[in-house]
Amino acid sequence: MGITFTKVGHKYHGARRKDITIALDDINLNIDDKDEFLFVIGRTGSGKSTLISHMNGLLIPTEGSIKIFDYELTPKKRKNPKLKPIRKRIGFVFQFPEYQLFEETVYKDICFAPNNFGATKEEIKENVKNVCKLLRINETILKKSPFNLSGGQMRKVAIAGVLAYNPDILILDEPTRGLDPITANEIMEIFNKINKEMHKTIIVISHDMNLV
Ligand SMILES: Nc1ncnc2c1ncn2[C@@H]1O[C@H](COP(=O)(O)OP(=O)(O)O)[C@@H](O)[C@H]1O
Ligand SMILES: [Mg+2]
Repeated sequence: MGITFTKVGHKYHGARRKDITIALDDINLNIDDKDEFLFVIGRTGSGKSTLISHMNGLLIPTEGSIKIFDYELTPKKRKNPKLKPIRKRIGFVFQFPEYQLFEETVYKDICFAPNNFGATKEEIKENVKNVCKLLRINETILKKSPFNLSGGQMRKVAIAGVLAYNPDILILDEPTRGLDPITANEIMEIFNKINKEMHKTIIVISHDMNLV
């Protein structure tokens, strides 16, 4: 089993003691670590981002418990969670991930996370090649600055940086937001392929019911 939530709640505390937002309340779910394709839908402010931020330990529950592979996260672990092993297995793509590109070349940006997780230079080179093929990123852009790309290409490069460390579960917060319909469809087709052919579990937040 990949991710299990048991009676999970999350309260945000504001500046004043009485400012409390209950963003999650009594959430129970089971997500397998392969072959699932799930959408999280709901209006703005309904708690989608809060929910998925618990799936890689970015947020720790204030109530209940979460199991991610063999690792348990409970309110007690809020102070010192050891997250590196789960972060590598759960690929997390934020909203507008292109805002987090920062290296001088596309290649370096795609390599950043795999480098961090201790992959060797050869492994990384091979992975980048495979991921570029999968995402249809032309290898000629690898030497370019990520800031000279189109919006759709930047988005793909940001997603490539997560796929390149080969996580088991891929979680994406509004991955097609702000893209033209053709690029949006292309990206969704790629997730479909990753799910069908590589058996990865994919979790997508979307407000676009047509896309869902
Ligand atoms: N860092 C935060 N501090 C306080 N309240 C927050 C914070 N992040 C989100 N919230 C509140 O929690 C609720 C759920 O937000 P969010 O998970 O971002 O929803 P969604 O992604 O569905 O738009 C909203 O009421 C939001 O205002
Ligand atoms: Mg959100």
